[in-house]
Amino acid sequence: MSCPVATELGIRRLLTAAGQAPSVLNTQPWRFRIVRGEYAELYGDRDRTLSVSDPRGRSLHVSCGAALFNVRLAARVAGHRPLVWLLPDPEGRHDLLAAVRMVELGPPTAAERDLYEQIGRRRTNRQPFDRRHVPDQVMSELRTAAASEGARLVPLGRGATAELLDYVTIAEDGLLADHDYLAELAAWTMRGAYADGIPAYAFGPRSADDPSPVRDLGAAHPGRPSACFESHPRLAVLTTPGDRRVDWLRAGQALQRMLLVATAHGVSASFLNQPLDLRDMRRRRDPYHRRGHAQMIIRFGYGPAVARAPRRPPAELMTSF
Ligand SMILES: Cc1cc2nc3c(=O)[nH]c(=O)nc-3n(C[C@H](O)[C@H](O)[C@H](O)COP(=O)(O)O)c2cc1C
Repeated sequence: MSCPVATELGIRRLLTAAGQAPSVLNTQPWRFRIVRGEYAELYGDRDRTLSVSDPRGRSLHVSCGAALFNVRLAARVAGHRPLVWLLPDPEGRHDLLAAVRMVELGPPTAAERDLYEQIGRRRTNRQPFDRRHVPDQVMSELRTAAASEGARLVPLGRGATAELLDYVTIAEDGLLADHDYLAELAAWTMRGAYADGIPAYAFGPRSADDPSPVRDLGAAHPGRPSACFESHPRLAVLTTPGDRRVDWLRAGQALQRMLLVATAHGVSASFLNQPLDLRDMRRRRDPYHRRGHAQMIIRFGYGPAVARAPRRPPAELMTSF
């Protein structure tokens, strides 16, 4: 098979896969450069940084890590082994987050092909989930997926979930009291015909109950209908051993691997990152915790089908210097 970065079609497939990754407020903060038809470079896009709620660039790195995982899968499906260097030039090109060299390997496994097929099916689902319990076997597969990327998925019991939901509500109040945050949220939501940001159809309803198990990303645009959500949401926290840029990139890869495994099982996910965003916004460091540094707060369950959030066309993701 030809090298995925050596032909126009191969590059388009790679960029299409990368571009479908989840990203904070659907900012799609990534750019790619193809070097000599041999390797791909992934850059963080400074123009798409959330300067208020993500001043350290943590969420940007997690988002780019998710896109990187898709690039790795696309390379495997094209019969190549992706050799990845994270932050290959930290002193020089600070925005260069990863370099991926492609080495011919042979056909992908059925499991790799199956995960790849989930890329276009995965969505963030902010609708109420039904009463079905996510089986322990599936949760165990999700934990394995996170662990194989150097992260840890910590499922929460009922007591810890109730505590965390209270904490999320307090953090949400803190965020909404900040005018700069509201302006940033408004700028990236309800963007009509834009190819990025979160459109109104993806907000889902507001929760009729307090605390809410879903983040109200339409908070800057009041007046939406409300609905009852599941009374016992299944929450888990994705953590990493450290809290540096390299950890954030690993968290993103772990997140995407885990979300694709979940999608394959018909399990939906949404996120409740308000405490992490508030902490970042106030420029507080994450206190070390026995279980690691929290990078994503995730709600799992079984939701109805939802429409796809918009994406920029693959050609727009290329950069040239
Ligand atoms: C680092 C990161 C943080 C996110 N935080 C939240 C969040 O707190 N609440 C939420 O509902 N979605 C959150 N999302 C999901 C994005 O909003 C979503 O990926 C984006 O809108 C694209 O939609 P899609 O996932 O359906 O493709 C987050 C995604 C990433 C990668």
